[in-house]
Amino acid sequence: MSVNVAVIAGSLRQGAFSKAIAKSVASLLPEDYIVKFININMDLYNQDLDQEETVPESWKRFRQDMSKMDAVIFVTPEYNRSIPGGLKNALDVGSRPMGSSIWDKKPALIISESPGGMGGMAANFALRQSLVFLNMPTVQQPEAYLGKVTSFINEDGSITDQRELDYFQSLVNAFVDLVKKNVK
Ligand SMILES: Cc1cc2nc3c(=O)[nH]c(=O)nc-3n(C[C@H](O)[C@H](O)[C@H](O)COP(=O)(O)O)c2cc1C
Repeated sequence: MSVNVAVIAGSLRQGAFSKAIAKSVASLLPEDYIVKFININMDLYNQDLDQEETVPESWKRFRQDMSKMDAVIFVTPEYNRSIPGGLKNALDVGSRPMGSSIWDKKPALIISESPGGMGGMAANFALRQSLVFLNMPTVQQPEAYLGKVTSFINEDGSITDQRELDYFQSLVNAFVDLVKKNVK
């Protein structure tokens, strides 16, 4: 059975560490997992616009892309002890209109990252809080707070540190187990 996996980086920054980690983690998924990197750079959610005639194109595209996905991997930095606004916006856009959330029941993996020592732990938990309400079963263990990311991401964005890659593989394995239990 093939599984469509959305990979979402919480940062819009071109050279984002979260994007480099997302790419590396996605490369470790099994062959029958089809990966789509989802762009979350879109209009800010405004409930006034959320009607047939006024829905922005960027929301339509995001909702369409996400509705085809079976599972989601989030890799996010921490902004001021929470998640970046762009990522929260994507959660909000995807959650509406009421009753048509594109997140519902999709298994998820959360990885937070930071050049600092705490690995974006507060962002990890802030995202987890929203995923509870969005009804997404989420990998609990191993936890993924990646600190000091500049110590293992190469200049070109590649990751070759075997210890990190082994750890990423353990995250992917837990995610695959969760997907098996939740995606029919
Ligand atoms: C607005 C802003 C707020 C930030 N707040 C935090 C923070 O609360 N904790 C932290 O560890 N790093 C914080 N940082 C530093 C980010 O972790 C760092 O810029 C990181 O490289 C962003 O991830 P990216 O490379 O995926 O864009 C902040 C950065 C910005 C721009």
